[in-house]
Amino acid sequence: MSELVTPPVTPAFSRNNPFSSQLKENRCLNQSGSSKDTRHIVIELGSSGPTYICGDSLGVVPRNPDSLVREFTQRLGLHEDAALHETIATSAVLNRAGKKFVKAVAEKATGTAREKLQAICADEKKLDEYVFDRDVVDVLHDAPGVHLEPSEIPNLLNKIAPRLYSIASSPDHRPGEVHLTVALVQYNSHGRTKKGLASGYLADLSGATSIPVYVQPTRHFHLPAPDRDIIMVGPGTGIAPFRAFLQHRARHGHTGRNWLFFGDQHAKTDFLYGNEFSDAQKTGHLHKLSTAFSRDQADKIYVQHRMEEEGAELWQWLQNGAYFYVCGDAKRMAKDVHAALIKIAGRHGGKTPEQAEEWVSVTFSKTEKRYLKDVY
Ligand SMILES: Cc1cc2nc3c(=O)[nH]c(=O)nc-3n(C[C@H](O)[C@H](O)[C@H](O)COP(=O)(O)OP(=O)(O)OC[C@H]3O[C@@H](n4cnc5c(N)ncnc54)[C@H](O)[C@@H]3O)c2cc1C
Ligand SMILES: NC(=O)c1ccc[n+]([C@@H]2O[C@H](COP(=O)([O-])OP(=O)(O)OC[C@H]3O[C@@H](n4cnc5c(N)ncnc54)[C@H](OP(=O)(O)O)[C@@H]3O)[C@@H](O)[C@H]2O)c1
Repeated sequence: MSELVTPPVTPAFSRNNPFSSQLKENRCLNQSGSSKDTRHIVIELGSSGPTYICGDSLGVVPRNPDSLVREFTQRLGLHEDAALHETIATSAVLNRAGKKFVKAVAEKATGTAREKLQAICADEKKLDEYVFDRDVVDVLHDAPGVHLEPSEIPNLLNKIAPRLYSIASSPDHRPGEVHLTVALVQYNSHGRTKKGLASGYLADLSGATSIPVYVQPTRHFHLPAPDRDIIMVGPGTGIAPFRAFLQHRARHGHTGRNWLFFGDQHAKTDFLYGNEFSDAQKTGHLHKLSTAFSRDQADKIYVQHRMEEEGAELWQWLQNGAYFYVCGDAKRMAKDVHAALIKIAGRHGGKTPEQAEEWVSVTFSKTEKRYLKDVY
């Protein structure tokens, strides 16, 4: 009788069952004098962590800074024990006040604070404005002496959700590691500095800290066949998956050509991974690099302007079967890049505006599936 062999169980890491990874490196990619703070984060997954391919994203489960948890509990007059601290740190959103929380605080406030907060809560527009740039501590500052029981807190605050980051490394570059390119969200309001929950969490990490992560596989943002040309448009943190693509294509000897469009504020301080891309040009792994530094001159220059300037050659690449990738800001950049593609198809492909629109949005994107987006 043959022996029954139990197949090895592959751990399915997910948002509800993240892998406990280790921080390996956290450095700022911007030079001094920049108005931005973009981090290169290296995370150790080791041999037992989740695996990924180029184009995937990493889910990060953040926690609140200890100092903010303490400020919050102190303002509420709570005796803070370790268990309560940990529960609040890992489960409740503190950096952005929700409407439910403001309403509960208004209800418990007294005197003029109560009147003021209740008037705000009665007017949806005023409440939207009130919560826009306040965290929970700002709200409690407006209602001194308000007390909440620990058991009330979970129900009044939004639950922490993981954040996704496009993976900036090829799995074969340094096996067991995953790299991220994270823009720190940071602003001042109501006399205090506020940080984004997950970008702040990652930016503040140091030492051998453990980070709960999981891989979110991409459905469509894949590299094409090795001999195909690719055009990558990735301003700001949109550069992340293209660093991975370039590492992968260089390592595996892909013969297709690579053309990168990168943009950020200033060449001197914000050319993320600039040295790596110069090296890749020298070794012949990056065939064309077009940069758009928006604030190095009086008028804004963006990646889509460079695309239009190079429209004839870009159209030739597309005619030759190139794949076109866009990553980064969805609200403005990706829409403008889409419009620039339509202009190029009209100007260099001899199409009417309607034909150009149809070609980009239907033929190129849906039928041929050569136009791929990872925008957020
Ligand atoms: C598929 C995917 C891939 C992504 N890849 C990357 C990546 O590679 N790199 C990267 O950096 N990000 C990436 N993101 C975005 C990332 O997931 C987070 O959304 C981002 O880091 C902000 O999260 P946070 O928790 O730091 O900020 P949050 O705590 O969520 O706060 C952000 C919010 O703060 C508010 N805010 C910002 N500035 C101000 C202000 N001045 N006044 C008032 N309110 C303000 C805004 O409402 C904003 O929505 C990606 C997202 C997706 C979906
Ligand atoms: N949807 C989102 O929530 C979202 C998406 C992306 C980024 N962000 C946030 O924005 C901050 C910085 O992000 P980032 O570093 O990735 O860079 P970014 O702010 O997207 O900027 C990168 C470059 O793109 C330029 N740009 C601005 N508008 C553009 C447009 N319409 N078309 C093309 N380029 C355009 C910028 O120029 P100028 O700044 O000089 O105009 C800059 O040179 C972070 O806090 C990040 O979290 C939010």
